[in-house]
Amino acid sequence: MIKFKNAIKQKIMITSNQLRKKYIDFFVKKNHAHIGSASLIPDNDPTVLFTTAGMHPLVPYLLGEKHPQGNRLVNVQKCVRTGDIDEVGDATHCTFFEMLGNWSLGDYFKKESIEYSYEFLTKELGINPKDIAITVFAGDSDAPKDTESANHWLRLGIPNERIFYLDKVHNWWGPAGQTGPCGPDTEIFIIRDVKCDNPDCSPACNCGKYVEIWNNVFMEYNKQEDGSYIPLKQKNVDTGMGLERTVAMLNGNKSVYEIDLFEKALKVLNNNAKIQDEKGFRIILDHLRTATFMLGDEKGITPSNVDQGYVLRRLIRRAIRYARVIELDVSYLTDIVKAYIEEYADFYKELKENEEKIIKEFEQEVERFSKTLEQGIKRFEKMIEHIPNKIISGQTAFRLYDTFGFPIEMTIELAKEEGFDVDVRGYEQCFEEHRAKSQAGSEQRFKGGLADNKEATARLHTATHLLLGALHKVFDDPNIQQRGSNITAERLRFDFNFDRALTEEELKKIEDIVNEAILKAIPVVCREMPIEDARAEGACGIFGDKYGDIVKVYSIEGYSKELCGGPHAANTKELGKFKIQKEQSSSSGVRRIRATLEE
Ligand code: ALA
Repeated sequence: MIKFKNAIKQKIMITSNQLRKKYIDFFVKKNHAHIGSASLIPDNDPTVLFTTAGMHPLVPYLLGEKHPQGNRLVNVQKCVRTGDIDEVGDATHCTFFEMLGNWSLGDYFKKESIEYSYEFLTKELGINPKDIAITVFAGDSDAPKDTESANHWLRLGIPNERIFYLDKVHNWWGPAGQTGPCGPDTEIFIIRDVKCDNPDCSPACNCGKYVEIWNNVFMEYNKQEDGSYIPLKQKNVDTGMGLERTVAMLNGNKSVYEIDLFEKALKVLNNNAKIQDEKGFRIILDHLRTATFMLGDEKGITPSNVDQGYVLRRLIRRAIRYARVIELDVSYLTDIVKAYIEEYADFYKELKENEEKIIKEFEQEVERFSKTLEQGIKRFEKMIEHIPNKIISGQTAFRLYDTFGFPIEMTIELAKEEGFDVDVRGYEQCFEEHRAKSQAGSEQRFKGGLADNKEATARLHTATHLLLGALHKVFDDPNIQQRGSNITAERLRFDFNFDRALTEEELKKIEDIVNEAILKAIPVVCREMPIEDARAEGACGIFGDKYGDIVKVYSIEGYSKELCGGPHAANTKELGKFKIQKEQSSSSGVRRIRATLEE
Protein backbone atom coordinates (compact mmCIF):
# COMPACT_ATOMS: atom_id res chain seq x y z
CA MET A 1 0.00 0.00 0.00
CA ILE A 2 1.51 3.33 -1.03
CA LYS A 3 1.80 5.81 1.80
CA PHE A 4 3.23 9.28 1.65
CA LYS A 5 5.81 7.90 4.08
CA ASN A 6 7.74 10.87 5.33
CA ALA A 7 6.57 14.39 5.10
CA ILE A 8 7.96 17.05 2.82
CA LYS A 9 10.92 18.62 4.58
CA GLN A 10 9.24 21.93 4.99
CA LYS A 11 5.45 21.74 5.46
CA ILE A 12 3.21 24.43 4.00
CA MET A 13 -0.22 24.69 5.54
CA ILE A 14 -2.79 25.37 2.85
CA THR A 15 -6.46 24.48 2.38
CA SER A 16 -7.94 23.16 -0.85
CA ASN A 17 -9.88 26.35 -1.33
CA GLN A 18 -6.78 28.47 -0.85
CA LEU A 19 -4.86 26.43 -3.41
CA ARG A 20 -7.67 26.69 -5.99
CA LYS A 21 -7.85 30.43 -5.45
CA LYS A 22 -4.12 31.06 -5.49
CA TYR A 23 -3.77 29.07 -8.69
CA ILE A 24 -6.54 30.85 -10.55
CA ASP A 25 -5.52 34.31 -9.30
CA PHE A 26 -1.93 33.72 -10.30
CA PHE A 27 -2.74 32.78 -13.87
CA VAL A 28 -5.41 35.44 -14.22
CA LYS A 29 -2.67 37.94 -13.31
CA LYS A 30 -0.66 36.43 -16.16
CA ASN A 31 -3.52 37.25 -18.53
CA HIS A 32 -5.25 33.88 -18.55
CA ALA A 33 -9.06 33.76 -18.78
CA HIS A 34 -10.69 31.73 -16.03
CA ILE A 35 -13.05 29.20 -17.61
CA GLY A 36 -15.45 27.00 -15.64
CA SER A 37 -15.16 23.26 -15.18
CA ALA A 38 -16.76 21.31 -18.01
CA SER A 39 -19.08 18.35 -17.49
CA LEU A 40 -17.68 14.98 -16.45
CA ILE A 41 -19.03 13.58 -19.72
CA PRO A 42 -16.86 14.55 -22.69
CA ASP A 43 -18.59 16.28 -25.58
CA ASN A 44 -16.25 15.49 -28.36
CA ASP A 45 -14.77 12.09 -27.70
CA PRO A 46 -16.88 8.96 -28.07
CA THR A 47 -13.90 6.74 -27.19
CA VAL A 48 -13.79 7.82 -23.56
CA LEU A 49 -16.49 7.63 -20.91
CA PHE A 50 -15.38 10.47 -18.66
CA THR A 51 -13.43 13.71 -18.71
CA THR A 52 -10.03 12.56 -17.52
CA ALA A 53 -8.02 15.79 -17.67
CA GLY A 54 -8.46 19.54 -17.93
CA MET A 55 -7.36 19.48 -21.56
CA HIS A 56 -10.07 17.07 -22.59
CA PRO A 57 -12.84 19.63 -23.17
CA LEU A 58 -10.27 21.83 -24.92
CA VAL A 59 -9.26 19.39 -27.66
CA PRO A 60 -10.84 21.36 -30.55
CA TYR A 61 -8.92 24.47 -29.44
CA LEU A 62 -5.65 22.59 -29.07
CA LEU A 63 -6.22 21.46 -32.65
CA GLY A 64 -6.49 25.07 -33.84
CA GLU A 65 -10.07 26.25 -33.40
CA LYS A 66 -10.32 29.71 -31.84
CA HIS A 67 -11.40 29.74 -28.19
CA PRO A 68 -13.96 32.50 -27.46
CA GLN A 69 -12.07 33.54 -24.32
CA GLY A 70 -8.67 33.85 -25.90
CA ASN A 71 -5.51 31.81 -26.14
CA ARG A 72 -4.52 31.75 -22.46
CA LEU A 73 -6.84 29.82 -20.16
CA VAL A 74 -6.92 28.60 -16.58
CA ASN A 75 -9.38 26.40 -14.71
CA VAL A 76 -10.14 23.76 -12.14
CA GLN A 77 -11.60 20.73 -13.88
CA LYS A 78 -13.49 17.90 -12.23
CA CYS A 79 -12.10 14.62 -13.54
CA VAL A 80 -12.86 10.92 -13.24
CA ARG A 81 -10.37 8.16 -13.91
CA THR A 82 -11.54 4.63 -13.24
CA GLY A 83 -8.66 2.71 -14.82
CA ASP A 84 -7.04 2.06 -11.45
CA ILE A 85 -10.21 1.57 -9.45
CA ASP A 86 -8.73 -1.56 -7.83
CA GLU A 87 -5.99 0.59 -6.29
CA VAL A 88 -8.44 2.80 -4.43
CA GLY A 89 -7.80 2.22 -0.75
CA ASP A 90 -4.13 3.21 -0.84
CA ALA A 91 -2.87 6.71 -0.06
CA THR A 92 -3.00 8.28 -3.50
CA HIS A 93 -5.59 6.75 -5.80
CA CYS A 94 -8.95 8.43 -6.16
CA THR A 95 -11.49 7.86 -8.92
CA PHE A 96 -12.51 11.53 -8.76
CA PHE A 97 -10.10 14.43 -8.51
CA GLU A 98 -9.80 18.07 -9.37
CA MET A 99 -7.15 19.17 -11.82
CA LEU A 100 -5.74 22.67 -11.74
CA GLY A 101 -4.64 23.58 -15.26
CA ASN A 102 -3.37 26.40 -17.40
CA TRP A 103 -3.21 26.45 -21.19
CA SER A 104 -1.53 28.27 -23.98
CA LEU A 105 -3.34 27.74 -27.28
CA GLY A 106 -0.59 28.55 -29.73
CA ASP A 107 0.60 31.42 -27.51
CA TYR A 108 3.52 30.93 -25.07
CA PHE A 109 5.52 27.72 -25.05
CA LYS A 110 8.21 26.00 -22.97
CA LYS A 111 10.03 29.02 -21.57
CA GLU A 112 7.05 30.85 -20.09
CA SER A 113 5.28 27.68 -19.04
CA ILE A 114 8.27 26.56 -17.00
CA GLU A 115 8.84 30.06 -15.59
CA TYR A 116 5.21 30.35 -14.50
CA SER A 117 5.28 26.98 -12.80
CA TYR A 118 8.50 27.77 -11.00
CA GLU A 119 7.26 31.16 -9.88
CA PHE A 120 3.96 29.75 -8.65
CA LEU A 121 5.54 26.95 -6.66
CA THR A 122 8.41 28.87 -5.10
CA LYS A 123 6.96 32.40 -4.75
CA GLU A 124 3.21 31.88 -4.38
CA LEU A 125 3.30 28.62 -2.44
CA GLY A 126 6.70 29.15 -0.88
CA ILE A 127 8.12 25.72 -1.71
CA ASN A 128 11.87 25.57 -1.18
CA PRO A 129 13.50 25.16 -4.63
CA LYS A 130 15.75 22.49 -3.06
CA ASP A 131 12.65 20.29 -2.58
CA ILE A 132 11.89 20.27 -6.30
CA ALA A 133 13.00 17.71 -8.90
CA ILE A 134 12.20 17.69 -12.60
CA THR A 135 11.86 15.15 -15.38
CA VAL A 136 12.06 15.88 -19.10
CA PHE A 137 11.62 13.76 -22.23
CA ALA A 138 14.69 11.71 -23.20
CA GLY A 139 13.79 11.65 -26.92
CA ASP A 140 13.02 8.85 -29.38
CA SER A 141 12.14 8.36 -33.04
CA ASP A 142 8.91 10.36 -32.61
CA ALA A 143 10.33 13.48 -30.96
CA PRO A 144 13.78 14.79 -29.99
CA LYS A 145 15.37 14.97 -26.55
CA ASP A 146 13.92 17.95 -24.71
CA THR A 147 17.10 19.81 -23.81
CA GLU A 148 15.24 23.09 -24.25
CA SER A 149 13.04 22.43 -21.21
CA ALA A 150 16.02 21.17 -19.22
CA ASN A 151 17.92 24.38 -20.03
CA HIS A 152 15.05 26.53 -18.81
CA TRP A 153 15.02 24.64 -15.51
CA LEU A 154 18.80 24.96 -15.21
CA ARG A 155 18.58 28.68 -15.83
CA LEU A 156 16.02 28.99 -13.04
CA GLY A 157 18.41 27.28 -10.65
CA ILE A 158 17.41 23.59 -10.62
CA PRO A 159 20.79 21.81 -10.77
CA ASN A 160 21.60 19.05 -13.25
CA GLU A 161 21.45 16.30 -10.63
CA ARG A 162 17.79 17.08 -10.01
CA ILE A 163 16.82 17.00 -13.70
CA PHE A 164 16.12 13.51 -15.03
CA TYR A 165 15.65 12.45 -18.65
CA LEU A 166 13.00 9.72 -18.95
CA ASP A 167 11.37 7.85 -21.82
CA LYS A 168 7.91 7.96 -23.35
CA VAL A 169 6.31 5.86 -20.63
CA HIS A 170 7.09 8.63 -18.15
CA ASN A 171 7.47 11.86 -20.07
CA TRP A 172 4.88 11.88 -22.80
CA TRP A 173 1.25 12.72 -22.28
CA GLY A 174 -1.84 12.10 -24.35
CA PRO A 175 -3.88 11.81 -26.35
CA ALA A 176 -6.76 11.59 -23.90
CA GLY A 177 -8.69 9.21 -26.16
CA GLN A 178 -7.28 7.19 -29.04
CA THR A 179 -6.23 10.07 -31.26
CA GLY A 180 -5.56 13.78 -30.83
CA PRO A 181 -3.16 16.28 -29.30
CA CYS A 182 -0.24 15.02 -27.28
CA GLY A 183 3.43 15.63 -26.73
CA PRO A 184 6.47 15.40 -24.50
CA ASP A 185 6.12 16.75 -21.00
CA THR A 186 8.18 18.03 -18.14
CA GLU A 187 7.00 16.89 -14.72
CA ILE A 188 7.55 18.53 -11.38
CA PHE A 189 8.16 16.47 -8.26
CA ILE A 190 8.37 17.27 -4.59
CA ILE A 191 11.26 15.52 -2.91
CA ARG A 192 10.36 13.83 0.32
CA ASP A 193 12.56 12.83 3.19
CA VAL A 194 12.89 9.17 2.17
CA LYS A 195 16.08 7.08 2.10
CA CYS A 196 16.27 4.84 -0.94
CA ASP A 197 18.88 2.10 -1.50
CA ASN A 198 18.50 2.11 -5.26
CA PRO A 199 21.68 3.68 -6.71
CA ASP A 200 19.64 4.68 -9.78
CA CYS A 201 16.84 6.19 -7.74
CA SER A 202 14.98 8.79 -9.79
CA PRO A 203 11.39 10.01 -10.09
CA ALA A 204 10.79 6.73 -11.95
CA CYS A 205 11.62 4.78 -8.76
CA ASN A 206 8.74 3.57 -6.61
CA CYS A 207 10.33 4.36 -3.25
CA GLY A 208 8.11 7.38 -2.57
CA LYS A 209 10.94 9.90 -2.43
CA TYR A 210 9.60 11.79 -5.46
CA VAL A 211 5.92 12.68 -5.66
CA GLU A 212 4.66 14.23 -8.88
CA ILE A 213 2.51 17.28 -8.41
CA TRP A 214 2.46 19.06 -11.77
CA ASN A 215 2.73 18.05 -15.37
CA ASN A 216 3.47 20.53 -18.14
CA VAL A 217 2.75 19.02 -21.55
CA PHE A 218 4.05 20.58 -24.72
CA MET A 219 1.38 19.58 -27.15
CA GLU A 220 2.80 19.88 -30.59
CA TYR A 221 1.74 16.54 -32.09
CA ASN A 222 -1.51 15.01 -33.25
CA LYS A 223 -1.65 11.24 -32.88
CA GLN A 224 -3.32 9.52 -35.81
CA GLU A 225 -5.36 6.33 -35.88
CA ASP A 226 -2.44 4.45 -37.40
CA GLY A 227 -0.31 5.39 -34.39
CA SER A 228 1.83 7.99 -36.17
CA TYR A 229 2.39 11.54 -34.93
CA ILE A 230 2.03 14.58 -37.13
CA PRO A 231 2.92 18.13 -36.05
CA LEU A 232 0.00 20.27 -34.92
CA LYS A 233 -0.79 23.60 -36.55
CA GLN A 234 0.09 25.36 -33.33
CA LYS A 235 2.31 24.66 -30.35
CA ASN A 236 0.27 24.44 -27.16
CA VAL A 237 0.91 24.12 -23.46
CA ASP A 238 -1.36 21.93 -21.34
CA THR A 239 -0.64 21.62 -17.66
CA GLY A 240 -2.26 19.69 -14.86
CA MET A 241 -1.80 19.73 -11.10
CA GLY A 242 -3.75 17.33 -8.90
CA LEU A 243 -5.47 19.39 -6.23
CA GLU A 244 -5.94 16.73 -3.55
CA ARG A 245 -2.48 15.27 -3.87
CA THR A 246 -0.77 18.66 -3.80
CA VAL A 247 -2.69 19.79 -0.72
CA ALA A 248 -1.86 16.51 1.03
CA MET A 249 1.81 16.81 0.06
CA LEU A 250 2.20 20.40 1.22
CA ASN A 251 0.45 19.79 4.52
CA GLY A 252 2.52 16.71 5.19
CA ASN A 253 -0.51 14.38 5.28
CA LYS A 254 -0.07 10.63 5.10
CA SER A 255 -2.81 10.21 2.51
CA VAL A 256 -5.15 12.33 0.41
CA TYR A 257 -8.02 11.29 2.67
CA GLU A 258 -6.59 13.45 5.45
CA ILE A 259 -7.18 16.70 3.59
CA ASP A 260 -10.00 19.12 4.38
CA LEU A 261 -12.27 18.05 1.50
CA PHE A 262 -12.93 14.70 3.18
CA GLU A 263 -13.35 15.99 6.72
CA LYS A 264 -17.15 16.17 6.86
CA ALA A 265 -17.67 12.81 5.17
CA LEU A 266 -15.04 11.15 7.33
CA LYS A 267 -16.81 12.35 10.43
CA VAL A 268 -19.93 10.42 9.43
CA LEU A 269 -17.84 7.26 9.15
CA ASN A 270 -15.94 7.85 12.38
CA ASN A 271 -19.14 8.43 14.31
CA ASN A 272 -21.13 5.52 12.95
CA ALA A 273 -19.00 2.67 11.63
CA LYS A 274 -18.66 -0.19 14.11
CA ILE A 275 -15.47 -1.48 12.54
CA GLN A 276 -12.52 0.81 11.82
CA ASP A 277 -11.07 -0.46 8.57
CA GLU A 278 -8.82 1.91 6.64
CA LYS A 279 -9.37 0.36 3.24
CA GLY A 280 -13.15 0.18 3.72
CA PHE A 281 -13.26 3.80 4.86
CA ARG A 282 -11.25 4.99 1.90
CA ILE A 283 -13.25 3.03 -0.66
CA ILE A 284 -16.48 4.48 0.69
CA LEU A 285 -15.04 8.01 0.87
CA ASP A 286 -13.73 7.80 -2.66
CA HIS A 287 -16.61 6.05 -4.37
CA LEU A 288 -19.36 8.16 -2.83
CA ARG A 289 -17.58 11.38 -3.69
CA THR A 290 -17.32 10.28 -7.33
CA ALA A 291 -20.93 9.12 -7.29
CA THR A 292 -22.07 12.48 -5.89
CA PHE A 293 -20.32 14.34 -8.71
CA MET A 294 -21.66 11.96 -11.36
CA LEU A 295 -25.24 12.19 -10.10
CA GLY A 296 -24.95 15.96 -9.74
CA ASP A 297 -23.26 16.51 -13.09
CA GLU A 298 -24.87 18.96 -15.48
CA LYS A 299 -25.29 16.08 -17.93
CA GLY A 300 -27.18 14.12 -15.28
CA ILE A 301 -25.91 10.56 -15.12
CA THR A 302 -28.03 7.96 -13.36
CA PRO A 303 -27.17 4.37 -12.43
CA SER A 304 -27.76 1.93 -15.29
CA ASN A 305 -26.31 -1.15 -16.92
CA VAL A 306 -24.40 0.58 -19.67
CA ASP A 307 -21.55 3.03 -20.12
CA GLN A 308 -21.21 5.85 -17.56
CA GLY A 309 -24.30 4.69 -15.70
CA TYR A 310 -22.73 1.29 -15.17
CA VAL A 311 -19.56 2.78 -13.69
CA LEU A 312 -21.72 4.85 -11.36
CA ARG A 313 -23.71 1.79 -10.37
CA ARG A 314 -20.53 -0.16 -9.74
CA LEU A 315 -19.15 2.59 -7.48
CA ILE A 316 -22.33 2.86 -5.42
CA ARG A 317 -22.71 -0.90 -5.09
CA ARG A 318 -19.10 -1.36 -4.05
CA ALA A 319 -19.54 1.33 -1.41
CA ILE A 320 -22.64 -0.48 -0.14
CA ARG A 321 -20.72 -3.72 0.12
CA TYR A 322 -17.98 -2.01 2.11
CA ALA A 323 -20.57 -0.43 4.39
CA ARG A 324 -21.46 -4.00 5.28
CA VAL A 325 -17.76 -4.77 5.93
CA ILE A 326 -17.34 -1.84 8.35
CA GLU A 327 -20.79 -2.43 9.85
CA LEU A 328 -22.18 0.90 8.87
CA ASP A 329 -25.93 1.17 8.46
CA VAL A 330 -26.56 2.07 4.80
CA SER A 331 -28.72 5.04 5.81
CA TYR A 332 -25.50 6.84 6.77
CA LEU A 333 -24.29 6.63 3.18
CA THR A 334 -26.80 9.35 2.31
CA ASP A 335 -25.29 11.50 5.07
CA ILE A 336 -21.91 11.11 3.41
CA VAL A 337 -23.35 12.20 0.07
CA LYS A 338 -24.94 15.20 1.81
CA ALA A 339 -21.62 16.03 3.48
CA TYR A 340 -19.96 16.16 0.06
CA ILE A 341 -22.68 18.36 -1.40
CA GLU A 342 -22.16 20.77 1.47
CA GLU A 343 -18.38 20.65 1.20
CA TYR A 344 -18.30 21.38 -2.53
CA ALA A 345 -21.41 23.52 -2.98
CA ASP A 346 -19.59 26.86 -3.19
CA PHE A 347 -17.28 25.79 -5.97
CA TYR A 348 -19.53 23.37 -7.85
CA LYS A 349 -22.93 25.02 -7.93
CA GLU A 350 -24.47 22.13 -9.86
CA LEU A 351 -24.30 19.95 -6.74
CA LYS A 352 -26.55 22.27 -4.79
CA GLU A 353 -28.85 22.80 -7.77
CA ASN A 354 -29.22 19.07 -8.27
CA GLU A 355 -29.24 18.15 -4.60
CA GLU A 356 -32.72 16.67 -4.61
CA LYS A 357 -32.04 14.56 -7.66
CA ILE A 358 -28.68 13.36 -6.31
CA ILE A 359 -30.22 12.16 -3.08
CA LYS A 360 -33.28 10.62 -4.71
CA GLU A 361 -31.30 8.66 -7.31
CA PHE A 362 -28.71 7.66 -4.74
CA GLU A 363 -31.23 6.36 -2.25
CA GLN A 364 -33.07 4.45 -4.96
CA GLU A 365 -29.89 2.68 -5.95
CA VAL A 366 -29.06 1.92 -2.32
CA GLU A 367 -32.50 0.49 -1.80
CA ARG A 368 -32.36 -1.56 -4.99
CA PHE A 369 -29.07 -3.14 -4.08
CA SER A 370 -29.22 -3.47 -0.31
CA LYS A 371 -32.24 -5.74 -0.72
CA THR A 372 -30.42 -8.23 -2.89
CA LEU A 373 -26.89 -7.85 -1.48
CA GLU A 374 -27.57 -9.88 1.65
CA GLN A 375 -29.22 -12.68 -0.31
CA GLY A 376 -26.55 -12.58 -2.98
CA ILE A 377 -23.74 -12.84 -0.44
CA LYS A 378 -25.48 -15.80 1.22
CA ARG A 379 -25.86 -17.48 -2.15
CA PHE A 380 -22.23 -16.74 -2.95
CA GLU A 381 -21.00 -18.23 0.33
CA LYS A 382 -23.10 -21.33 -0.03
CA MET A 383 -22.10 -21.81 -3.60
CA ILE A 384 -18.35 -21.71 -3.01
CA GLU A 385 -18.64 -24.59 -0.56
CA HIS A 386 -19.52 -26.78 -3.52
CA ILE A 387 -16.85 -25.76 -5.98
CA PRO A 388 -13.92 -28.12 -5.80
CA ASN A 389 -11.67 -26.46 -8.43
CA LYS A 390 -11.80 -22.97 -6.91
CA ILE A 391 -13.20 -21.48 -10.10
CA ILE A 392 -16.53 -19.74 -10.23
CA SER A 393 -18.11 -20.49 -13.58
CA GLY A 394 -19.19 -17.82 -16.00
CA GLN A 395 -22.78 -18.88 -15.63
CA THR A 396 -22.69 -18.51 -11.86
CA ALA A 397 -21.07 -15.09 -12.11
CA PHE A 398 -23.73 -14.11 -14.61
CA ARG A 399 -26.47 -15.35 -12.29
CA LEU A 400 -25.06 -13.23 -9.47
CA TYR A 401 -25.20 -10.26 -11.80
CA ASP A 402 -28.58 -10.93 -13.30
CA THR A 403 -30.44 -12.01 -10.16
CA PHE A 404 -28.69 -10.16 -7.37
CA GLY A 405 -27.22 -7.20 -9.25
CA PHE A 406 -23.57 -8.06 -8.53
CA PRO A 407 -21.33 -6.23 -10.99
CA ILE A 408 -18.81 -8.77 -12.30
CA GLU A 409 -15.99 -6.78 -10.69
CA MET A 410 -17.65 -7.32 -7.31
CA THR A 411 -17.90 -11.07 -7.88
CA ILE A 412 -14.22 -11.14 -8.83
CA GLU A 413 -13.35 -9.18 -5.69
CA LEU A 414 -15.41 -11.45 -3.42
CA ALA A 415 -13.97 -14.52 -5.11
CA LYS A 416 -10.43 -13.28 -4.65
CA GLU A 417 -11.00 -12.75 -0.94
CA GLU A 418 -11.90 -16.44 -0.70
CA GLY A 419 -9.02 -17.58 -2.91
CA PHE A 420 -11.24 -18.29 -5.91
CA ASP A 421 -11.00 -17.31 -9.57
CA VAL A 422 -13.84 -16.36 -11.84
CA ASP A 423 -14.22 -17.57 -15.40
CA VAL A 424 -14.59 -14.05 -16.74
CA ARG A 425 -14.57 -15.19 -20.34
CA GLY A 426 -17.47 -17.51 -19.61
CA TYR A 427 -19.26 -14.65 -17.88
CA GLU A 428 -18.72 -12.43 -20.89
CA GLN A 429 -20.12 -15.12 -23.15
CA CYS A 430 -23.26 -15.41 -21.01
CA PHE A 431 -23.47 -11.65 -20.92
CA GLU A 432 -23.06 -11.41 -24.70
CA GLU A 433 -25.80 -13.97 -25.27
CA HIS A 434 -28.04 -12.04 -22.95
CA ARG A 435 -27.09 -8.74 -24.51
CA ALA A 436 -27.73 -10.00 -28.01
CA LYS A 437 -31.21 -10.84 -26.81
CA SER A 438 -31.88 -7.60 -25.02
CA GLN A 439 -29.88 -5.25 -27.27
CA ALA A 440 -28.44 -3.62 -24.23
CA GLY A 441 -25.52 -1.43 -25.28
CA SER A 442 -21.81 -1.75 -25.41
CA GLU A 443 -20.16 -4.24 -23.12
CA GLN A 444 -16.64 -3.31 -24.14
CA ARG A 445 -16.87 0.09 -22.59
CA PHE A 446 -17.78 -1.29 -19.18
CA LYS A 447 -14.25 -1.96 -18.40
CA GLY A 448 -12.83 1.33 -17.26
CA GLY A 449 -12.48 5.00 -17.88
CA LEU A 450 -10.57 4.84 -21.10
CA ALA A 451 -11.61 2.87 -24.15
CA ASP A 452 -8.68 0.78 -25.19
CA ASN A 453 -6.34 1.30 -28.01
CA LYS A 454 -6.91 -2.06 -29.67
CA GLU A 455 -3.49 -2.77 -31.14
CA ALA A 456 -1.54 -1.70 -28.09
CA THR A 457 -3.68 -3.82 -25.80
CA ALA A 458 -3.43 -6.83 -28.11
CA ARG A 459 0.38 -6.59 -27.98
CA LEU A 460 0.35 -6.26 -24.20
CA HIS A 461 -2.04 -9.19 -24.01
CA THR A 462 0.43 -11.33 -25.96
CA ALA A 463 3.12 -10.11 -23.57
CA THR A 464 1.12 -11.44 -20.60
CA HIS A 465 1.15 -14.90 -22.21
CA LEU A 466 4.91 -14.70 -22.63
CA LEU A 467 5.22 -13.46 -19.06
CA LEU A 468 3.31 -16.44 -17.68
CA GLY A 469 5.39 -18.75 -19.88
CA ALA A 470 8.57 -17.14 -18.54
CA LEU A 471 7.37 -17.57 -14.94
CA HIS A 472 6.86 -21.29 -15.64
CA LYS A 473 10.38 -21.54 -17.03
CA VAL A 474 12.19 -19.55 -14.35
CA PHE A 475 10.54 -21.41 -11.47
CA ASP A 476 10.10 -24.69 -13.32
CA ASP A 477 6.57 -24.74 -12.00
CA PRO A 478 3.55 -25.17 -14.29
CA ASN A 479 1.21 -24.57 -11.34
CA ILE A 480 1.81 -20.85 -11.44
CA GLN A 481 -1.44 -19.45 -12.80
CA GLN A 482 -2.95 -16.17 -13.74
CA ARG A 483 -4.94 -14.71 -10.88
CA GLY A 484 -5.95 -11.50 -12.56
CA SER A 485 -5.05 -9.36 -15.52
CA ASN A 486 -5.73 -5.75 -16.35
CA ILE A 487 -4.46 -4.21 -19.55
CA THR A 488 -4.62 -0.59 -20.65
CA ALA A 489 -3.08 0.84 -23.81
CA GLU A 490 -0.01 1.77 -21.74
CA ARG A 491 0.77 -1.22 -19.56
CA LEU A 492 -0.12 -4.69 -18.45
CA ARG A 493 -0.84 -5.72 -14.90
CA PHE A 494 -0.65 -9.41 -14.17
CA ASP A 495 -1.44 -11.24 -10.93
CA PHE A 496 -0.30 -14.79 -10.26
CA ASN A 497 -0.07 -17.20 -7.37
CA PHE A 498 3.36 -17.10 -5.73
CA ASP A 499 4.20 -16.83 -2.08
CA ARG A 500 7.14 -14.46 -1.88
CA ALA A 501 8.62 -11.39 -3.51
CA LEU A 502 10.65 -12.05 -6.65
CA THR A 503 14.34 -11.15 -6.57
CA GLU A 504 15.93 -8.64 -8.95
CA GLU A 505 17.73 -11.53 -10.57
CA GLU A 506 14.54 -13.50 -11.14
CA LEU A 507 12.80 -10.45 -12.59
CA LYS A 508 15.72 -9.91 -14.94
CA LYS A 509 15.58 -13.56 -16.05
CA ILE A 510 11.87 -13.23 -16.76
CA GLU A 511 12.40 -10.07 -18.78
CA ASP A 512 15.19 -11.75 -20.72
CA ILE A 513 13.07 -14.78 -21.59
CA VAL A 514 10.19 -12.61 -22.82
CA ASN A 515 12.56 -10.45 -24.87
CA GLU A 516 14.23 -13.54 -26.27
CA ALA A 517 10.82 -14.77 -27.49
CA ILE A 518 10.16 -11.36 -29.02
CA LEU A 519 13.50 -11.36 -30.83
CA LYS A 520 12.81 -14.80 -32.26
CA ALA A 521 9.78 -13.40 -34.15
CA ILE A 522 7.49 -16.33 -33.36
CA PRO A 523 4.00 -16.41 -34.90
CA VAL A 524 1.12 -16.37 -32.42
CA VAL A 525 -1.08 -19.24 -33.51
CA CYS A 526 -4.74 -19.58 -32.61
CA ARG A 527 -6.54 -22.93 -32.85
CA GLU A 528 -10.04 -23.91 -31.88
CA MET A 529 -10.55 -27.27 -30.23
CA PRO A 530 -12.77 -29.07 -27.72
CA ILE A 531 -11.92 -28.07 -24.17
CA GLU A 532 -10.93 -31.66 -23.31
CA ASP A 533 -8.27 -31.57 -26.04
CA ALA A 534 -6.94 -28.26 -24.79
CA ARG A 535 -6.58 -29.72 -21.34
CA ALA A 536 -4.91 -32.86 -22.71
CA GLU A 537 -2.43 -30.71 -24.63
CA GLY A 538 -1.42 -29.04 -21.38
CA ALA A 539 -2.77 -25.61 -22.30
CA CYS A 540 -2.94 -23.40 -19.26
CA GLY A 541 -5.76 -21.03 -18.40
CA ILE A 542 -8.96 -21.05 -16.50
CA PHE A 543 -11.04 -24.08 -17.42
CA GLY A 544 -14.72 -23.57 -16.84
CA ASP A 545 -16.92 -26.54 -16.07
CA LYS A 546 -18.69 -26.78 -19.40
CA TYR A 547 -17.41 -29.91 -21.16
CA GLY A 548 -17.88 -30.26 -24.86
CA ASP A 549 -17.23 -26.57 -25.39
CA ILE A 550 -15.04 -25.46 -28.24
CA VAL A 551 -12.33 -23.13 -26.98
CA LYS A 552 -9.56 -21.06 -28.49
CA VAL A 553 -5.97 -21.96 -27.67
CA TYR A 554 -3.24 -19.44 -28.42
CA SER A 555 0.28 -20.87 -28.80
CA ILE A 556 3.68 -19.24 -29.01
CA GLU A 557 5.92 -22.14 -29.88
CA GLY A 558 8.42 -22.92 -27.16
CA TYR A 559 7.02 -20.32 -24.74
CA SER A 560 3.30 -20.45 -24.19
CA LYS A 561 0.09 -22.35 -24.79
CA GLU A 562 -2.97 -20.80 -23.24
CA LEU A 563 -6.72 -21.00 -23.33
CA CYS A 564 -7.82 -17.51 -24.23
CA GLY A 565 -10.34 -15.44 -26.13
CA GLY A 566 -7.75 -13.11 -27.70
CA PRO A 567 -7.16 -10.81 -29.43
CA HIS A 568 -3.39 -11.03 -29.80
CA ALA A 569 -0.55 -9.71 -31.89
CA ALA A 570 0.09 -11.87 -34.97
CA ASN A 571 3.78 -12.31 -34.24
CA THR A 572 5.97 -11.71 -31.17
CA LYS A 573 8.17 -9.38 -33.21
CA GLU A 574 5.42 -6.74 -33.02
CA LEU A 575 5.87 -6.39 -29.29
CA GLY A 576 8.92 -4.12 -28.88
CA LYS A 577 11.00 -4.33 -25.72
CA PHE A 578 9.41 -5.87 -22.65
CA LYS A 579 10.16 -4.11 -19.39
CA ILE A 580 8.99 -4.96 -15.88
CA GLN A 581 8.16 -1.73 -14.06
CA LYS A 582 7.15 -3.08 -10.70
CA GLU A 583 6.65 -6.28 -8.71
CA GLN A 584 4.62 -6.24 -5.54
CA SER A 585 2.20 -8.20 -3.41
CA SER A 586 -1.41 -8.15 -4.58
CA SER A 587 -2.99 -10.18 -1.79
CA SER A 588 -1.97 -13.11 0.34
CA GLY A 589 -0.14 -15.62 -1.88
CA VAL A 590 -0.62 -13.50 -4.98
CA ARG A 591 2.05 -11.31 -6.60
CA ARG A 592 1.49 -8.56 -9.12
CA ILE A 593 3.73 -7.50 -12.00
CA ARG A 594 3.32 -4.33 -13.99
CA ALA A 595 5.14 -4.17 -17.27
CA THR A 596 5.31 -2.14 -20.44
CA LEU A 597 6.37 -2.61 -24.03
CA GLU A 598 8.76 0.00 -25.31
CA GLU A 599 8.96 0.86 -28.97
N1 ALA B 1 -3.10 16.63 -19.42
C1 ALA B 1 -2.00 16.49 -18.54
C2 ALA B 1 -2.24 15.48 -17.45
O1 ALA B 1 -3.33 15.02 -17.31
C3 ALA B 1 -1.60 17.79 -17.98
O2 ALA B 1 -1.34 15.15 -16.73
